[in-house]
Amino acid sequence: MNTIVVGLQWGDEGKGKIVDYLTESADLVVRGQGGNNAGHTVIAKGVRYILNLLPSGILWDGKTNIIGNGVVLDPIGLVAEIERNEALGVSITPAKLLISDRAHVVLPFHKELDAAREISLGDQKIGTTKRGIGPTYADKVNRCGLRVADLLDEPFARAQVTRRVAEVNEILAKYDLPQFTADQVLEEVYTAFERLRPHVTNTIPVLHKAWKNGESILFEGAQGTLLDIDYGTYPFVTSSNTTSGGSCTGSGLPPNAIQRVIGVCKAYTTRVGSGWFPTVDEGLSEYLHGLGREFGVVSGRPRGCGWLDTVLLRFACMVNGVTGLAVTNVDGLDEYETLQICTAYDIDGTLHELPPAGRGEWDKATPVYESLPGWKCDTTACTRYEDLPQNAKAYLTRLSELCGAPIAFIGVGPDRSQTLVV
Ligand code: IMP
Repeated sequence: MNTIVVGLQWGDEGKGKIVDYLTESADLVVRGQGGNNAGHTVIAKGVRYILNLLPSGILWDGKTNIIGNGVVLDPIGLVAEIERNEALGVSITPAKLLISDRAHVVLPFHKELDAAREISLGDQKIGTTKRGIGPTYADKVNRCGLRVADLLDEPFARAQVTRRVAEVNEILAKYDLPQFTADQVLEEVYTAFERLRPHVTNTIPVLHKAWKNGESILFEGAQGTLLDIDYGTYPFVTSSNTTSGGSCTGSGLPPNAIQRVIGVCKAYTTRVGSGWFPTVDEGLSEYLHGLGREFGVVSGRPRGCGWLDTVLLRFACMVNGVTGLAVTNVDGLDEYETLQICTAYDIDGTLHELPPAGRGEWDKATPVYESLPGWKCDTTACTRYEDLPQNAKAYLTRLSELCGAPIAFIGVGPDRSQTLVV
């Protein structure tokens, strides 16, 4: 069975943990989009691993992990990530990790271009992770990017980087940001690339062979549906298709190869960076931060927290074709007295069951809530759905009804063992 795991909110839904759980029965784990802007935390046997670009299957022996063509790959960042995880005892061999030769390369100046754009946007800034993700995808679409295969052709890479550095320096000069030389960029990138070179290959036939042989392929989505460049809260989005289709375009495995789409959401909603967040709630944010929860893995920024928003989830289930929901962080609500679920937005007196596209409408979207009683007890020791308190089951049933998708998994804590199969 081939499965896509996607985030249904603004990222940070706890996908890493669900992917890790599903990896047990997978032969291959694939990242098809995004870059090291993602931060997946996996806790296994008491050890906390943070993965940015490495697929979660890297923590297991005997799995093939693929960084697909749709990913933007920062060689320097990836080598640091590899070394950090190797220090924790994870083996990262060319047999375990394959890197697509079609993936685009994040170059050091892309990070500065990211900063330049944020400065130029002033109070309209996106609040990016400053990892150079947007500018790298922009170069890809603008047909002036550098692919991993180009790094294998050093004279070409040199010429391309030299051209691009000249253009980029003009932009950076306007913002008093550091200038680059092609030599410096190439030296930094090639130093890192030496560690990655043995992993580079054409990953598409590898995936097709696995598909043909009936092996099980798992796609690990990064970020979330509302950060998707098409379906998200544009322009406050990331620069890739974070939805299920992105797994296909980002890997070369076609849609008819996919049997299952698991949509991951928290039992509430969180968001980092700028942009609309209708159900944000100060009380809930303070409560969760007080528990030491909801600080960003990549940036350490406190995430804004709010009530469950089923307008967003309904839409996310539609555009991803979700066949099963994984609801994580249920334990985060354990002590709350009364819970709110947003069922619609009121925009100028009209009720909307799906999110709007226009900025003006987003500015006016007011959540319409329904209240449910909390369960006021610890769920972290539950090991079966039946163990959950009645009010938690009622909350999850309502969530599922409002989203139009069945629940497949429930998360009641960060450990691998705290995932309930429904
Ligand atoms: P970028 O992907 O760095 O360009 O950032 C664009 C937006 O996506 C910002 O609001 C980021 O905070 C958000 N973002 C990117 N990656 C993640 C993630 O893994 N989790 C949550 N938000 C993210």
